[in-house]
Amino acid sequence: MVSARIPLVAGNWKMNFDHLEAVYFVQKLAWLLRDAHFDFRKCEVALMPAFTALRSVQVLVEADKLKIHYGAQAVSVTSQGAFTGDVSADMIARLGCRYVIVGHSERRKYHPEDDANIVDQVRAVLAAGMQPILCVGESFEERRQGIELEFAVGQVRDVTRDLSDEEAGKLVIAYEPVWAIGTGMVATGQSAQDAAHAIRMSLRTTFGRNVCDSVRILYGGSVTSRNAVELITEPDVDGFLIGGAALDVNELSTIARLTVKTTSDAAK
Ligand code: 13P
Repeated sequence: MVSARIPLVAGNWKMNFDHLEAVYFVQKLAWLLRDAHFDFRKCEVALMPAFTALRSVQVLVEADKLKIHYGAQAVSVTSQGAFTGDVSADMIARLGCRYVIVGHSERRKYHPEDDANIVDQVRAVLAAGMQPILCVGESFEERRQGIELEFAVGQVRDVTRDLSDEEAGKLVIAYEPVWAIGTGMVATGQSAQDAAHAIRMSLRTTFGRNVCDSVRILYGGSVTSRNAVELITEPDVDGFLIGGAALDVNELSTIARLTVKTTSDAAK
């Protein structure tokens, strides 16, 4: 990555860590990054705990004035009412969340979340003053057919087509090929770059240059400290959405530090 976009290293904890484990992790991450003189102006670090841990993370972050951001993994499309088990965007925003993951492939698979529903989630998150991390990416079958770029770009287009430029500018997009999630099969730097570039060019066509240049496009899928440098070196890859490796505090802090080092070296 060589650009004015500040990289984002985001940990998606999925259904892991209760609130006590979350607090312990955030404290340890803060210590590790402080010890390493981590420069938060050069890389944002964010965590996406389960709903049950958000309040505890908020209290810790605010009490210790930590520079770590956090967000939710899902959101209801409605603002209140008889929707048992759902959590509204306003409730999430009240907990100081900056981000909400929208359209993760595990949500698309295990819940009735189609593109229309995902559009509504994006709108709900934006209306509550937060930033959606919109996940897109092809399955193994689309890659086998050689249509992975059209597929990921199509998903972005379907979800963003009715957004204003201002709304689109607040998106973070995570390119997460489904075959790479939790499998240990990571995309090459080149194929992550190809997808991120195709998505960026499509944003340019739909929204123009400002949105194209400012929206951060993350890569997700089996990211570890061993492959992070190759991926972040690519000009259109602006950070990571990390699952498994974000459950290991040493791993996550190493990936964040490598991201700063690699992007700072490239900017020299
Ligand atoms: P893994 O890093 O475990 O492959 O998960 C990626 C992911 O789904 C992040 O949202």
